[in-house]
Amino acid sequence: MLVSTNQMLLDAQKGGYAVPAFNIHNLETIQVVVDTANELKSPVILAATPSTVKYAGIEYLIKMIETASEKYDIPIAFHLDHHEDVNSIKEAILLGCKSVMIDASHHPFEENIKIVKEVVDFAHRYDVSVEAELGKLVGQEDDLIVDESQSSYTDPKLAKEFVERTGVNSLAVAIGTAHGLYKNEPKLDYDRLKEIKKLVDIPLVLHGASGVPFDSVRTTIEDGICKVNIATELKIPFAESLKEFFLKNPNESDPRKYLIPAKEAMKKVVVDKIIMCKSDNRG
Ligand code: 13P
Ligand code: ZN
Ligand code: NA
Repeated sequence: MLVSTNQMLLDAQKGGYAVPAFNIHNLETIQVVVDTANELKSPVILAATPSTVKYAGIEYLIKMIETASEKYDIPIAFHLDHHEDVNSIKEAILLGCKSVMIDASHHPFEENIKIVKEVVDFAHRYDVSVEAELGKLVGQEDDLIVDESQSSYTDPKLAKEFVERTGVNSLAVAIGTAHGLYKNEPKLDYDRLKEIKKLVDIPLVLHGASGVPFDSVRTTIEDGICKVNIATELKIPFAESLKEFFLKNPNESDPRKYLIPAKEAMKKVVVDKIIMCKSDNRG
């Protein structure tokens, strides 16, 4: 059975660490994440964007991650990441999804509340946890592209009102991180995060963690971040390893040969990120 991320994040909040949420795409990336989390005894969230759901199929994703959660003792959750379509979220919940993000952050405040509230009312009937976003991250996450002029930081007072009026379980905050990698080291607004934390008691989520230095992420965890999202930094070593493999072995065609080094390259990043989140030995 899949579990909601509610208890996992409340445990992280109490324990002063964050649960890493890794974006996965297929069997191999799921295996790397759960095998590594199991070795380090870390709770873990496997996240799927709408384009991953479209690519892999929601039923396959649910069954593969359910299988992983039965195989290992650590808490393993499946989470819909950056979903914007309320109906597809409801369908996924009816198929067994226990954790969802409704991303209505591109809508005006009142509209964002209305959309999120509809998802929360539905989700809570099925014991499903809901993450929403207030403020908007710059950068690209699959098909979701936000340029500099459209981005905005989270307003702490509005965050308090947003959380109270929607009843969400966790809140994604915009404090200077971006989806994808950075041209220069990102400047994070820790004071803003502290202010949000003072006014909002639910777990806070950091998106765009690829490219954010280890110590900066650690500081955000001290300041109230309980879930850290990582996508881009996992994709790069996987792809680089494949390129290197085929340069050296142009005639190889066995996926069991060329995927193994790719998985090993990705694993190193998963280990580093679990340590960064301080979630090892918390599972
Ligand atoms: P990165 O690609 O920057 O790691 O962002 C991941 C993310 O926020 C997924 O929702
Ligand atoms: Zn994100
Ligand atoms: Na990033």
